[in-house]
Formats: sequence, structure tokens, C-alpha cells
Amino acid sequence: MENNSNIKQNKGDAASAFSFRDVDYSKYTCTEELAVEAEVLLQKQETDRLRELALDYGRQTGHPATACVVTFGCQMNARDSEKMIGVLAAAGFEITDDESADLVVYNTCTVRDNANQRVFGRLGHLNAMKKSFPMKKIALCGCMMQEPEVIDKIRSSYSFVDLIFGTHNLYKFPELLCRMFESDKMVVDVWAKSDEIVEELPVVRKYPFKSGVNIMFGCDNFCTYCIVPYVRGRERSRRSTEILEEIRRLAADGVSEIMLLGQNVNSYGNGIDGEISFPKLLHEAEKIDGIERVRFMTSHPKDLSDELIDVMATSEKIARHLHLPIQSGSDAVLKAMNRKYTVADYMVLIEKLRRAMPDLAITTDLIVGFPTETREDAMQTAKLVKEVGYDNAFTFIYSPRTGTPAAKMDMTMKPEEITECFNEVLKNVQECARNATKMLTGTEGIALVEEINDHDPKLVTGRLSNNYLVHFPGDRSMIGTYRKVRLTENKGFYFYGEII
Ligand code: SAH
Ligand code: SF4
Ligand code: F3S
Repeated sequence: MENNSNIKQNKGDAASAFSFRDVDYSKYTCTEELAVEAEVLLQKQETDRLRELALDYGRQTGHPATACVVTFGCQMNARDSEKMIGVLAAAGFEITDDESADLVVYNTCTVRDNANQRVFGRLGHLNAMKKSFPMKKIALCGCMMQEPEVIDKIRSSYSFVDLIFGTHNLYKFPELLCRMFESDKMVVDVWAKSDEIVEELPVVRKYPFKSGVNIMFGCDNFCTYCIVPYVRGRERSRRSTEILEEIRRLAADGVSEIMLLGQNVNSYGNGIDGEISFPKLLHEAEKIDGIERVRFMTSHPKDLSDELIDVMATSEKIARHLHLPIQSGSDAVLKAMNRKYTVADYMVLIEKLRRAMPDLAITTDLIVGFPTETREDAMQTAKLVKEVGYDNAFTFIYSPRTGTPAAKMDMTMKPEEITECFNEVLKNVQECARNATKMLTGTEGIALVEEINDHDPKLVTGRLSNNYLVHFPGDRSMIGTYRKVRLTENKGFYFYGEII
């Protein structure tokens, strides 16, 4: 693997390449900022080169070059994919959802093993397509590519792949694609780490009216089961001035709903002297003209402050939804997971939140089958689900991830027991979700219309502030607008409604 972790060196090279023509030195207070700016300029130039390569490719195939980016995993990856599509569109590729495209990019996730297996399974199909169209290009990126054993496996068993890169050098996407088009060998460029944040790559958003906004990257929490800190690196916050400027630009471009993204948004700003807190950032974001709704994800319970609860409770625009992963209802398991709170601490938070915002929807993540977990522990999780009365929960079976501390622990439960416990937890989650939707039936809310209903074109699908979906009569012209609706009928996890 080409392990290029010497970023400063790279930036230095880029800076010298641009030093006289393109960079206004007077704007910068330090060489670091200058190097980042030079990198942005370099990538703009590489995008021009990529446009030439794409045209050339199109001349050879007899049709304009097409590209398809497939996203696995979380909101972080979804946002990264928008940046890649932005680069591809800027370089003249026609963007499609069809994997028969000339260039297919898989933006991968490795949080659980089934995410990896899905990618390997689908690579088989891409290979079959490439056999009948050998000019097809296949690129892999994202979290899975930060694992050395994955790279080894692809090199040995999936040698038809053309480009592999990781999570730390995404901003070099134009340059990496150029290298891929100019090489007949697999290009592998994965960096072990990064402490830089490069701003200003082009972006094409999936929805014109809503957008994710990265406020920080990486994670420092090292929950013992989780691979994210290893594949996404140390926690780094963007400067609030940059974030708010991006939101202003998005608002000017017609975006009214934003989602602030980070693995633990509550520790936003740690490590930047004098930076504002996350609640202040939320408040500044909601004040921006044109922004109607602000969401955020994810909150770690150990860092959720009273200040955040106050800011949420007094806001008209911050969504009435909080995703607050608890992971387990057993203190012993939480300790072994290194989550740094107890069930009692969590329940205090829930109480405060509900007191401040009775209409707040609360969702969570749960893991069943953590190595030290016993049946009794898992039953505590099942009980906790009912006690909190979650609106919904993602329930996962523990998946050992190479390199994490938990992967070295002995398993307490047998797989059959884990499945039984999982089913028990899931049953309670479903019961709570049904209760929650039942309680909300007949109420009113404001829905942001996102799309035409998949099954019935006479209906549109809107998202309420509390994140529930509601389907109601409407047409394409409503997409991107806010409509007041009554929830007339519940379908377990979503609603039918009518405009009022
Ligand atoms: N940063 C977020 C979660 C990111 S990963 C947070 O801490 O809340 C999303 C979810 O995947 C986690 O909340 C956890 O429930 C689950 N997860 C992570 N690693 C896992 C593993 N090894 N096995 C099963 N589930 C896992
Ligand atoms: Fe993983 Fe824990 Fe970080 Fe979330 S907070 S990304 S679960 S290590
Ligand atoms: Fe998956 Fe990476 Fe997100 S591992 S969950 S895509 S941060």
C-alpha cells in the first residue's frame, strides 16, 4: 500500500507549484493556510485535466463519459459522495444512478462486517460488466479502504479495480481520477492519517433544498467496539466562520434545511482556541436568512449539555428530533464499551429533554451481543427501550472489527442466544415505535416536501420537524416547500396526512 501520510510535504510541493502565479500571499497569516489554498488551486487545475481525459475517453467509447457514485454507510459518506459527484460533474461527466456507467465509485462503510460483505458481493457484478466492457473504470473509497487487510484482499482477488483511495485524501479526488485514467495499473493511494481540512471542493447536492454540512471530522471516543476512529482519524472541527459561510452560501442557493454532521457534535470546537460551542453554532446557523430547519447528528450522551437543551427548546427552527445513541441498557456493558456514562446518567438527560421539549422525538442506536454481554444485560436493554419509550431505534448485532479492543474479548453469549436477545429488543423497539405513531395520529405539523411518493404519484412525501415521514396528496411543484399537515392515519413508522 502506498502509505502517504506526509501531508505537509505534499502541501509544500503544491504551494511551490503555485507560488508565483495564483496565490495572493498577503491574504495569509501562516504557511499552513497558504498550503491548503494551494491544494485547492491544484485540484481545480486537476479538474480541468480530468475534463480533457473524460472528453478523450468519450471520443474512444463514442458517447459522453458517465459516472455513478454509490454510497454505503452514514451521513458522512453521503456528504462525501456529494463532493465526489460535484467534482465529476465539474469535469463534464454525466451523472447517473445506473451502475452500468463508464465509471463506478463505491464509497464504502466498514462499521459492521455486513457492510463489507455487501461491497464485495456487488464488486462481482461490476466485474461481470467490466468483462463485457473492458474500458469500464471502477473506483473504491471510503472507510473500508482504510483497512490494510481490505486492500490486500482487493489486490489479490479483485484486481480488476482501477482506483482505491481512503477517507483522508478525498480532496485529491480530481488528481486521483487523472492518475487512474492515465494508468493501466491499479492506483492505490491510502493515507494513514490526516490533520488537515481542505475547504471549497465543488459539491452537487442530492436535494436542492436540503444539505448536510460537516462541522467536524473523525472521532476521539474509541468506543471499544467501533472502527470509526481508526478509519476516520482523530476528531477535527472546522472553524465556525467557515461553517457559517458555507451555510450562508447554501441558503443563497435555495437550501432551507441543513443537517450539521459529526460523529459527536457535542464536542464541537474542542482543540480550537476560542471557538464557539456547539449550541452557539446551532444558534448562529438558525439565524441565517433562508434557513428554516436545522438538524444535527450525532450526539454522544456524555457531552450533551444543558446549554444545548436550552438552545433547542427556545428555537423554532431546530428540529424536534434527537438521535441519542445509548448502545446498551446495562452499566457493566456500557463500561466495557467505554461509553463513559451510566444508564442513570442517560435517564437524567432524557428527563431533562422531555421536560424542556415534550414534543421531542428521541431515537437511539442499540448493540446486542457485545462480547461481555450476558442475556441479563441484553434484557436490561430491552427493558430500557420501554422505559425511555423511544420513537425508534437502530438495533444492531455486534460485529467484531479488526483492530478494536472488543474484537480481542471472548464472547459470553452463543450466536443463537444473541439472536434471541436481538429479537426481544427489536420487539420492544417496534412496540414503542407503534405507540409513538399512535400518539401522534390526529396531530398537526409542518412538513418539508422532499419527493413524489415512490408508490403513488398522486402523493408527496414530507418530513416533519420530528423526522417522521408523512405522505399526502400533492404534486411535483410542492417539492422543497413547507406545508402544514394533519396526520390522519398511522402506518407503524410513518403517516398519511392532509394539507390544512
Ligand atoms: N458516532 C455515532 C455512531 C457512529 S456508528 C455515535 O457514537 O453515536 C453508528 C452506530 O453503529 C453506532 O451507534 C453503533 O450502534 C453501531 N456500531 C458501531 N460499531 C459497531 C459494531 N462493531 N457492531 C455493531 N454495531 C456497531
Ligand atoms: Fe464510534 Fe463511539 Fe466514535 Fe460513535 S462515538 S463514532 S460509536 S467511537
Ligand atoms: Fe460507516 Fe464510515 Fe460512517 S465506517 S458508519 S461510513 S464513518
